[in-house]
Amino acid sequence: GTDLSAESYRPQFHYSPPAMWLNDPNGMVYFEGEYHLMYQHHPGNTVWGPMHWGHAVSKDLVKWETLPVALVPDHNGAIFSGSAVVDWNDTSGFFDGGLGLVAIFTHADIYPDSDRPRQRQSLAYSKDKGRSWTLYSGNPILSDAEITEFRDPKVFWMEKTGHWIMVLACGDHIRFYRSVNLKDWDFASEFGKRDGAHYGVWECPDLFELSIDGSTSKKWVLLVSIGDNPDYPEGSKTQYFIGSFDGFEFINDNAPDTVLWLDEGRDNYAAVSWSDIPEEDGRRVIIGWMNNWKYANQVPTASWRGAMTLPRLLSLTNRNGNVILSQMPVQEIEKLRKETHSWSDLAVTSENPVIHETNGDLLEIDVDLDVHSGDEVCIKLKSSGQYETIIGYDPEREWLFIDRSKSGLTDFSPSFACKHGARLIPENGNIKLRIWVDRSVVEVFANDGIVALTDQVFPVNPIEKVQISVETGSAVLNLLHIHTLGSIHKP
Ligand code: FRU
Repeated sequence: GTDLSAESYRPQFHYSPPAMWLNDPNGMVYFEGEYHLMYQHHPGNTVWGPMHWGHAVSKDLVKWETLPVALVPDHNGAIFSGSAVVDWNDTSGFFDGGLGLVAIFTHADIYPDSDRPRQRQSLAYSKDKGRSWTLYSGNPILSDAEITEFRDPKVFWMEKTGHWIMVLACGDHIRFYRSVNLKDWDFASEFGKRDGAHYGVWECPDLFELSIDGSTSKKWVLLVSIGDNPDYPEGSKTQYFIGSFDGFEFINDNAPDTVLWLDEGRDNYAAVSWSDIPEEDGRRVIIGWMNNWKYANQVPTASWRGAMTLPRLLSLTNRNGNVILSQMPVQEIEKLRKETHSWSDLAVTSENPVIHETNGDLLEIDVDLDVHSGDEVCIKLKSSGQYETIIGYDPEREWLFIDRSKSGLTDFSPSFACKHGARLIPENGNIKLRIWVDRSVVEVFANDGIVALTDQVFPVNPIEKVQISVETGSAVLNLLHIHTLGSIHKP
């Protein structure tokens, strides 16, 4: 096959399809030692088209093996987004009393005799660890002619009531359905017409319970992605709600107008979590599509288009009375580290920036920054041709930002070149950043992951150096580690 380590923008430690188009992660389930990652895929083109489910598996969430396409469109339509579960007790009857994998997804076509899109929920099952899939003969299993946007089912087992729950995106709200056999579904309730952000259509929901700061106190988290709106410069983005869920109804803990963002960067969409990660592990791990509908079909890659974020461990934390999500790449990613360069108590002044040559290496940069001085600090990823991606912190505005306006190729979309960021409050006068740099992305996690910024960049030439500097005044780096990382495409 192609040498994936040779293509200039090909991610070297993020999943990307060997060829052609990828969007949302789908059918994420852990089964018999493998993490399955399926995804919206057009096997015939590098732009969006008739959707299939592509498929990859990993034993460690680091290295991925691409398998043949899992789901192909049939007489019911294209295969839009959805989830997968292990049917441990053969509730569906697909497994002759044994167990296996069931995928629950949206079949998308057009109503006969009209132009109106038709979206209906369907099933497919696998008896051989996901290597082959059968579309259920009774498809579709849930439809509603009243509603047009009706898609992206996420299904999980609700222990407390002994039901499967389906969380479904319905345009401007979420609906919850219940089932005992995955085939027959009863409407339970709806949520969200007046909650959260609504500048675009709601898509790709997820719902799960997490403990707060590792204690016995728990909350439910509802993820809801919001599609692009031509009038909204940020494009597609993912929000979340914190609340309670009793098997019937989701109750928002916050005021309806509260908006919480999963990621404040531009390129993390449709993130959802793995099902069936064993209880003794207990982790809730998500992955997102590292792109934005604003320019997803235009990003300047050649033989493929679209990649996933790093898999991220989610937690809840109480900060000043507010329960919020935090996220950090799963610890397995640290296996990629090769060489580590470390510094402590480094003074940075405008005459004396910290400069570290990297020669195109893949990087993890960990910084513990003292921001008492009040001067803006910039971490610049520089490549020849005057290109630079800046990760900066402005203590005066308490603002963490990425500036990708001179990062490399930007002219494929008027929305791509930008400087944007998020509020970040120092803790004891310090901020901590962990930054992963792949060939076409930077992922920034601040203060244990309470703020995340994920941005694509297309730097034209390999990153040659990391420069940490202040424009005026001074700053202190309590700690700095620069790790070089290995590529998952090389043995
Ligand atoms: C989200 C989405 C889903 C839909 C899929 C189609 O990015 O629009 O709502 O199922 O992509 O590819």
